[in-house]
Amino acid sequence: MNFKKQLVSSLSGLVFSAVMVSGTLAASMAEFNDKGELLLPKNYREWVMVGTQVTPDELNDGKAPFTEIRTVYIDPESYAHWKKTGEFRDGAMTVKELISVGGRKGPGSGNGYFMGDYIGLEASVKDSKRFPDEPGNWAFYIFYVPGTPLVTAAKNLPTAECAACHKENAKTDMVYTQFYPVLRAAKATGESGVVAPK
Ligand code: HEC
Repeated sequence: MNFKKQLVSSLSGLVFSAVMVSGTLAASMAEFNDKGELLLPKNYREWVMVGTQVTPDELNDGKAPFTEIRTVYIDPESYAHWKKTGEFRDGAMTVKELISVGGRKGPGSGNGYFMGDYIGLEASVKDSKRFPDEPGNWAFYIFYVPGTPLVTAAKNLPTAECAACHKENAKTDMVYTQFYPVLRAAKATGESGVVAPK
C-alpha cells in the first residue's frame, strides 16, 4: 500500500471509530446549570412511557402517601440501552408525573379512576461522575409537587429523603422495574412491544 492509500485508510478508520464512540456514548438527556442543578426537562412526553401506578385515596384511609396516579417515562437512548443490555446506562434519566383522579364514573367502561390534571413532576438521573457517592449513582429531584410552585432548575435531594426507599424496595438498580411492564418485557431482548408473556 502506498503512503497516500495508507493515510486514507487510517483516516477513514479514525472517522469510523469516532462515529462508533459517539454511537455508544449518546449524550444524556439530563442538563445541568453551573450550580449543578438539573434543568426542567422539556420534551419528556416524547420519551418511552414505562408504567402507570394508581394508589387511590379511598384505599388509603382518605389520603394516599403518594399522589393518586403516576406515570413514569425513561429517555429513549437509555431505553434502547436497557433493551439491549438489561441495564441502566450512565446518563439515564427518568421522569415521573403526578396526576390527580379526575372522575370515577366511566362512560360505559365501568367505574374507576380516570386521569384528572397533571399536578407534579419528579425526576432521577444516574451519573457516576456527578454522583459518585449516591447509591447506584442516582440523584433525585422534585420540580413540583402539589402545593409547591414549578422550579426550572432543581437541587439534588438528600439521599434519606428519596434514594433510601428506592434502594430498599426497587427491583433493579434503584428503579421500580417490578411496576414497569414495558421495561420488564424489553429487558435485554432487543425487542419492544412484546405483548404476550413468554
Ligand atoms: C416510600 C418509598 C419512596 C420514597 C421515599 C420515594 N420514592 Fe420514588 N418511587 C417509589 C415507588 C413505589 C415508585 C414506583 C412508581 C410509583 O408508584 O410512583 C417510585 C418511582 C420514582 C421515579 C420513577 C423511576 C423509578 O425509580 O422507578 C422517580 C423519578 C421517583 N420515584 C422520584 C422520587 C423522588 C424525587 C423522591 C424524593 C422526593 C422519591 N422518589 C422518594 C417509592 C418511593
